[in-house]
Amino acid sequence: MKHAMIIGATGITGGYILRDLAARPDWKVTGLCRRPPAESAPNVRWIGVDLLDKAEARAKLGGLSDVTHIFYCGFLPLGRDEQYLPANGNVAVNLALLANAVEPVTAASKGLRHVQVMQGTKYYGSHIGAFKTPAKEDDPRHMAPNFYFDQQDYVTELQAGKSWTWSCLRPHAVMGFTVGNPMNLLAALGLYAAISKELGLPLKFPGQEGAYRAVYQVTDAGLLASAAHWAATTPACANQALNITNGDFFRWESLWPRIADHFGMKAGGVQTIDLVSFMADKAPLWERMIAKYDLMRTPFTSAVNWAFPNYVFKATWDQMSDTTRARKLGFSECFDSEERILEQLGEIRRARFVP
Ligand SMILES: NC(=O)c1ccc[n+]([C@@H]2O[C@H](COP(=O)([O-])OP(=O)(O)OC[C@H]3O[C@@H](n4cnc5c(N)ncnc54)[C@H](OP(=O)(O)O)[C@@H]3O)[C@@H](O)[C@H]2O)c1
Repeated sequence: MKHAMIIGATGITGGYILRDLAARPDWKVTGLCRRPPAESAPNVRWIGVDLLDKAEARAKLGGLSDVTHIFYCGFLPLGRDEQYLPANGNVAVNLALLANAVEPVTAASKGLRHVQVMQGTKYYGSHIGAFKTPAKEDDPRHMAPNFYFDQQDYVTELQAGKSWTWSCLRPHAVMGFTVGNPMNLLAALGLYAAISKELGLPLKFPGQEGAYRAVYQVTDAGLLASAAHWAATTPACANQALNITNGDFFRWESLWPRIADHFGMKAGGVQTIDLVSFMADKAPLWERMIAKYDLMRTPFTSAVNWAFPNYVFKATWDQMSDTTRARKLGFSECFDSEERILEQLGEIRRARFVP
């Protein structure tokens, strides 16, 4: 029986990993976050812990002596403008989140086999501007700060001389159905389209013209969870980073008319708006839509954090990761991203998240 400790298990990446592992007969799972859910599957245990409090983390995690795999999917954004950037002052807190969880458990769990850290394409500076594409795992780093550098260096140093191994996964724009997670592009796409439709508007691309035309990539959250399990249990993946995406690329200019068509709307081309400002007055409209279409009762503020699509749609440069390493090591799952995003939009509509 393997025992996974998932840090940030209510997040979009950690939540999918938790469900994937909990569905496997040979795993039991411990999920960590500050606000655990009230209910859980029988082989899932939750520990509510503020990992920024080192003493609390030690007290609550120091007795976990049978953890075999640690999956780190924590993330603590700071401040509205900086919240999706791994630079700008959030290095110390995000390093502390990782270290305060990992230290007591690596000390107590003598049978530990693997520590995995969830990173992202921002490792390559994708949030700063154009970067070398397709990005390869061992490309030279950009100028620090970037908390992914500190987290990877921390795990590498901690592992030296130990019998366990580490891996770092680097997805891009994780697409999955979750409610209340800020970095959720699928929810943002669905809500933006539904609100535009309700207002009788065509589906205009709200980002920059350059972002509409640039090469883009996404990572399906289920595929990422499957890759997390694979990388954590495959000896050939030991002590290295792996780019994990759907395996293909697309441009919003090709997909956008298909999304419009999916919602029975006309595509409206590019009209750049600040989504945070333009969505600020839409909560009453959303409440009316919930009643009118009998939707899940998701408060507007937890449905989408509009700063995230704002950030995604303003990047005018190509986002391309090379996934050859993972494929050569044996991970072969892939999706046609345009098809998969349309499927997922169908899923969130059938679940009554959006009409
Ligand atoms: N989402 C994407 O599209 C995407 C794409 C590429 C890479 N990534 C990367 O993947 C990593 C994980 O991101 P995510 O999107 O999965 O994050 P997320 O959805 O925001 O989840 C963050 C998790 O961390 C927990 N957490 C935050 N502060 C905590 C604290 N003080 N103590 C204990 N738990 C705490 C949260 O639960 P509580 O709030 O209840 O504590 C939550 O479970 C990040 O490095 C991110 O940049 C994400």
